[in-house]
Amino acid sequence: MGFERLAAEVWNSALGATRRSVQILGWGKALPERVLTNDDLSRMVDTSDGWIRERTGILERRIAGEGETTASLAIEAARRALERAGFDPVDLDLIIVATMTPEHLFPATACLVQDALGALRAAAFDLSAGCTGFIYGLALATQGIQAGAYDHALVIGAETLSRIVDWQDRRTCVLFGDGAGAALLGTSSASGGVLTTLLGADGSGAELLILPAGGSRHPATPETTANGMHYLQMDGRKVFRFATRIIPQATREALDRVGLPLEHLELLIPHQANQRIIEASAQRLGLPLDRIFTNLERYGNTSTASIPIALCEALEAGRVQAGDHLVLVGFGAGLTWGAAVIEWGQPWPAPPVARRTRLLLWLRYRWAPVRSLIRRLQRALGALLQRMSPL
Ligand code: UT7
Repeated sequence: MGFERLAAEVWNSALGATRRSVQILGWGKALPERVLTNDDLSRMVDTSDGWIRERTGILERRIAGEGETTASLAIEAARRALERAGFDPVDLDLIIVATMTPEHLFPATACLVQDALGALRAAAFDLSAGCTGFIYGLALATQGIQAGAYDHALVIGAETLSRIVDWQDRRTCVLFGDGAGAALLGTSSASGGVLTTLLGADGSGAELLILPAGGSRHPATPETTANGMHYLQMDGRKVFRFATRIIPQATREALDRVGLPLEHLELLIPHQANQRIIEASAQRLGLPLDRIFTNLERYGNTSTASIPIALCEALEAGRVQAGDHLVLVGFGAGLTWGAAVIEWGQPWPAPPVARRTRLLLWLRYRWAPVRSLIRRLQRALGALLQRMSPL
């Protein structure tokens, strides 16, 4: 037994020595302009600003406008992340969009993002892991880069939850908001980066947070529509209990994996669901609230987008310095949970992006829809030629 443990330690340290360090090279967020306040909501359902503030900490949320969708928000956040890093999307190897509100059941929203960015070489897929989706995506991208399968990956959390919320159900409609956040991952010569990721799931809690219809179990019918089965449904109290248990547990486990004591954690960025969940978790962890980042008062719960948006805002607010240790921790539908420990390796404040690079990206994005149109025309022409000359 002793020998086996020693062998595992030697193997792990050998792996660690050869493992590539993965950094967050760029970050961006996108939020709809329309603000819906608690007072606005109190005119729509039987609720009040006082109840929402006290029970959730939320003051307002953003709601997607008519032309805005999960893909459009994801594209905007992605462009900002790429611009922050001065990175050409043509060099992307992978795009992951974590979402609970995809543009369609298929094709993947990630493919629409890939097309709009002109990321010609990138594989693209969506990931469904409830509100933990961004952490799941971060883990997969990090491991793919560490293994040498990819060099650069874009991980996006994007939602238009306002489209699946029942605006007559006060138990849920006051909680959620729309938005997107993105992170560009890649290797760099800086030390640190994503030190570890931890993922978990417990499907026995699947019904606690669910969109019952629209899938193969309950395809859309007039009955499913009439019964409100296309709206998000949640057992709030049970999810609350799960969250206050899993956030401290996942945070501790992730820190243990890298041997980092809690005192050396500069900032915890939890999924922004409820201020009471965050405070109860802080108390259980024994972490002062000033080492936890929150912005849910302005955006509500944006599901997969909440952690990357919070990361962007923590950086913008100067709450993260090079060398700082961060934990990103999430929980959500599934039930799922996940945490990532990051040693911030990038210089901060980040150096400004050259005007030439910005111009190049601007041209790239103007060219992307033209290229897409040419590809469609080529396909149509190919089909026509095939029809004209069978065999
Ligand atoms: O991304 C992960 C997803 N979800 C979450 O993290 C949500 C986790 N759960 C929660 O955040 C909380 O459970 C809620 C905010 C959803 C609810 O807070 P609560 O303190 O657990 O309230 P409750 O469900 O126990 O309801 C207390 C009372 C009920 O009235 P009665 O039965 O005591 O008369 C509700 O009907 O509050 C009532 N209520 C409301 N009253 C005014 C529920 N929603 C509202 C509302 N306005 N919006």
